[in-house]
This record gives sequence, structure tokens and C-alpha cells, in this order.
Amino acid sequence: MATELSPIDRAKYAASKRAVDLVENGMRVGLGTGSTAAWMVRCLAERVKKEGLSITCVPTSERTGELARELGLEVVTLEEAKWLDLTIDGTDEFDPELNLIKGGGGAHLREKVVATASDRMVVIADPGKEVAQLGAFPLPVEVLAFGLAATRALIEEMLVSLDVLGREVTLRMNGDKPFVTDEGNYVLDLHLGRIGNARQMALVLNQVPGVVENGLFVDICDQVIVGHPDGRVDIH
Ligand code: 5RP
Repeated sequence: MATELSPIDRAKYAASKRAVDLVENGMRVGLGTGSTAAWMVRCLAERVKKEGLSITCVPTSERTGELARELGLEVVTLEEAKWLDLTIDGTDEFDPELNLIKGGGGAHLREKVVATASDRMVVIADPGKEVAQLGAFPLPVEVLAFGLAATRALIEEMLVSLDVLGREVTLRMNGDKPFVTDEGNYVLDLHLGRIGNARQMALVLNQVPGVVENGLFVDICDQVIVGHPDGRVDIH
């Protein structure tokens, strides 16, 4: 199957295939968002069909929910599932402590809620997502549309006292309009270059009124599975 795919898709497929092997009959599974997570949803649906597994899934975005339903997976809300056994999601970056930057797809709020309501979070990635220190990827921060300018100014002020290389803050756009998340909020992308202390950054950002959630996942991820184009996987 994987021969006609690009090297990066083969890597995402390899990681996804290994991750869905962790799913057992009867599990409640959180489904991440993004292109890697989409591969995982396809692999999971294939396994469920082939082995007749009975599982329930909680998607982290409307688009993942649509894909999962289309492929025949049973989709429920987090309220209905109450708690999850396992969440499998992609990432934008991961560091040696398995801390993450997520939200490149603008779904990090629901992703964080779902991951922290799970016994275990497993991240799937291609080799390009591994970094020595977080921050080259712009850090997404979901904010209320109400008071956007004030929230942005407070974030910019706060960045002055933190250990970062850059301090540019941009409003994520969708064409000529602000990008709107599944929860109806906006996203500010923080171009920091390097985040010296991810834990401190995550805590301080969430103290700004108007910030709904930041894309730093600190002490949430239990395992990272990195896929390679030749089908190998590394487990971190
Ligand atoms: C969405 C996310 C994604 O997991 C992250 O952006 C990675 O996406 P991709 O697998 O397409 O590289 O956090 O909010």
C-alpha cells in the first residue's frame, strides 16, 4: 500500500500502524487531529473492520469526527465516554522529555482536554518533529475573540520576562478572515524561536485573561512513536 506514498506519508503511516496496535477490544480511544492523526484513523478503522473490534472513539475536532464516522468508527462525545483508555495524536514538535507543541491545526484545546482525560497519550510523528528544545514551531494560543487586542498586548508584555529568542505574535488567518477554532475562538501564533522553560511558559500564558489554552503539552504525553519512510519505528 505504502509504495506510492511520499516519504513523509510513509513515515506517518508507519507510526500510525504501530500506534493502533495498542488499541484493544472494548477500549475508549481519543482520536487526534492533523495529517498524521488522519493516517492513524484510517489504520484504526481498517483494524476494527478486519478484527471485528468493538471500540468507541472521541474525536478532537469536527474534521476528525467526520473522517472517523465516514470510515465506520463509532464516535461518541467525551461526556458519553466519561474517561478514555488511550489517546493517539500527532504533534508539531516533541522534545527529549516528551513535551510537545501542538495546535498547528488549531485543535489543541480539545486535544488537551481529550489527552488529559485519558489514561495514556501516545503521540505519532515523522522524524522532522523531534527537536532538542521546543520553540522553532510557532506556539499556538487559543484566545477569546472578545478583547483580542488587550489579550494580545498582555501576552506580548508577558513574553518580555520569559526566556525566549523571538517575541512576534501573529493572529492566525483563514484567507482574509481570522481562523476560527471548533470552539469559536481565535488563535495567536507566538514566534518564539526557542522556549527556555516550557512548564513556566504554559503556566504563565494560561494566567492571561482571554487566553483559553496554549499549545504546550507538558507532562501529558506518555510515549512518542516516530515512523520512518522505510517502515521502521522508534519508540521514545
Ligand atoms: C492539530 C495538531 C496536530 O497534531 C499537529 O499540528 C500535527 O499535524 P500534522 O500531523 O498534520 O503534522 O496539533 O491541532
